[in-house]
Amino acid sequence: MIMAERAVPPRVVPAERVASEAGFKKSCIPEVGRLLKLAAAAKPDGVIAESGTGSGVGTAWLHSGLGAGARLVTVERDEDLARRAAAVFADDPRVSVLMGDWRLLEQHAPFDVFFCDGGGKRDDPQRVVEQLAPGGLLILDDFTPSSHWPPRFEGEVDELRLFYLTHPDLEATEVLTTPGSSVVIGTRRA
Ligand SMILES: C[S@@+](CC[C@H](N)C(=O)[O-])C[C@H]1O[C@@H](n2cnc3c(N)ncnc32)[C@H](O)[C@@H]1O
Repeated sequence: MIMAERAVPPRVVPAERVASEAGFKKSCIPEVGRLLKLAAAAKPDGVIAESGTGSGVGTAWLHSGLGAGARLVTVERDEDLARRAAAVFADDPRVSVLMGDWRLLEQHAPFDVFFCDGGGKRDDPQRVVEQLAPGGLLILDDFTPSSHWPPRFEGEVDELRLFYLTHPDLEATEVLTTPGSSVVIGTRRA
């Protein structure tokens, strides 16, 4: 029996084409994308941010939930990827694709949604939390589920995941996106 695939938002298609053309293999999976869409839709007048645009797949998912009064700003340090991804969103003035280090995002903070996917997540997690508006949502991809507490990765306590899950300014939890992968999602306490 042939199983039909669940449709993806239209703009994900050209972003995936850019990934394929550029040989970029780190785009988010649709299970994460649907969470991104939900998060953006939860903040219809919000500032939505992404660090690490890649080819724009995650951006396209965020964009699919973007409210008419919302803004989406994303940053990518790879010049070629940033340029190609920007072309996918060139017709929508709500979207800005910045080229450079993730800290360029700070001038647009505080964020109502922050998909921190390249830059910041590992190198300056406290600064990441500080970019959130009260009630703002933080989404961190690419964890490996752990049945231990504190969570472990490759036999060691995963200090980074623990930092986010126990941060005093966050209400955070870990959610499975597939049996073998998870995201940490949190909201900044008011
Ligand atoms: C996991 S990929 C992003 C995937 C994309 N968010 C998606 O969902 O399709 C991480 C990206 O972050 C970029 N990156 C890594 N460190 C960065 C930094 N300090 N500032 C800006 N971009 C960075 C990398 O070049 C890479 O394209």
